[in-house]
Amino acid sequence: MKIDVLLGLQWGDEGKGKLVDVLTPDYDVIARFQGGPNAGHTLEFNGIKHITHNIPSGVFRENSINLIGNGVVLDPVIFKREVEAVMDLGVDLGPRLLVSRKAHLIMPTHRILDEASEAQKGKTKIGSTLKGIGPTYMDKTGRNGMRVGDIESADFKEKYDFLTNKHLQILKQYNFEFDLKEYEKGWMDGIESIRSFQLVNGEYEINKYLAEGKSVLAEGAQGSMLDIDFGSYPYVTSSNTICAGACTGLGLSPQKIGKVIGVFKAYCTRVGSGPFPTELVNETGEALREHGAEYGATTGRPRRCGWLDLPVLKYTIMLSGVTELIMTKSDVLTHFDTLQVCTGYKYNGKITDELPFDINLPVEPVYREIPSWNADLTGITEKKDLPVELLDYVDFVEKEVGVRISYVSVGPDRNQIIKM
Ligand code: GDP
Ligand code: IMO
Ligand code: MG
Repeated sequence: MKIDVLLGLQWGDEGKGKLVDVLTPDYDVIARFQGGPNAGHTLEFNGIKHITHNIPSGVFRENSINLIGNGVVLDPVIFKREVEAVMDLGVDLGPRLLVSRKAHLIMPTHRILDEASEAQKGKTKIGSTLKGIGPTYMDKTGRNGMRVGDIESADFKEKYDFLTNKHLQILKQYNFEFDLKEYEKGWMDGIESIRSFQLVNGEYEINKYLAEGKSVLAEGAQGSMLDIDFGSYPYVTSSNTICAGACTGLGLSPQKIGKVIGVFKAYCTRVGSGPFPTELVNETGEALREHGAEYGATTGRPRRCGWLDLPVLKYTIMLSGVTELIMTKSDVLTHFDTLQVCTGYKYNGKITDELPFDINLPVEPVYREIPSWNADLTGITEKKDLPVELLDYVDFVEKEVGVRISYVSVGPDRNQIIKM
């Protein structure tokens, strides 16, 4: 068997969590391969709204195995809170949630370093979620990090103290006040919570599943434009969010990749700083935010909104070899008479659909105007009932990017999904 990978193709929050929940009945195993609690993946079903941060979004489907892969950075405090909230809803996670020993631990001082670094940057700050993501990945690549497997070693506490002291030395360079005790409260409890689950050698586990013929879906976090190598650097996260990240973040060879499912919103949003060519800093942008309820699932911050950007989609489809697309939030565009879709950028006196090296330079989007659909989509369950203008929009995007759209999402609930 091969593993299917589901990714966000914009700046995150494309609706990945909802789609993983929708698709989980087709899979035996759901695996997270990068990112950490900077992610906020929203699931809605039976009147329940739930947001996952560290754990895979397959947890609510009976019989699914959920693996936190080695590429993930795990915050014990958030992990404990999350698993308790899921168990409170009657889900027995014990036998179904597995944690890779090679996943890295977010320490209290990582979170403080994240805050101190952002505070020092002032206006040039990344707009990080302040969950300690950057400093934890820095310790990973700097070969200092603490991993989940270290919990099982006798000198775990010494390792923790050693690295904490190192961080405290670094923090002296910042003019930043903090209360380590406040952050440490609950961290060791969180470690005990992690210990109560099955710690596994995830790379063996995942390859064993595939060899046994089990179907596996890898759940991406963030979006491709936040990828550390190919995103709008430096305004990115600290992991590879593109498909290649699933290989290194789970321990799989590239030949094991099957379908690559790219999720995109019918428009664009971004939370945090950094370039966003089609951003609308006007009433239309505000209307997108209000109709789309565009407020961060992790931080509650208002999301910046703008029109669909095809150069971005083509770029991120190329980077991950996307084989099928899912378009979300189509219902939100009902509220507009006409839509704009960016088909290229005016840059250096030329029109191009290639992203420049420095995407932080202002590029001028070239738009094509498309009629919207003045129909309520939220109760539609079959393609035949969709308005012709929406089908035209789908057709237009498919022709432009060269990949089929397999599902259209028309609301936040698990059932608001239309197979194309
Ligand atoms: P993720 O990070 O990619 O999982 O996405 P988020 O959960 O952060 O943000 C997506 C938001 O849109 C959530 O509030 C979802 O409940 C909601 N959502 C997902 N799909 C749809 C849709 O088709 N229509 C509407 N109106 N909301 C949706
Ligand atoms: P999901 O998985 C949207 C953004 C932050 C910031 C930048 C770096 O829900 O789509 P970090 O905390 O990683 O150091 O922040 O990346 N960011 C996200 N934006 N959705 C996310 O995750 C994000 N995770 C990080 O806002 O601009
Ligand atoms: Mg999100």
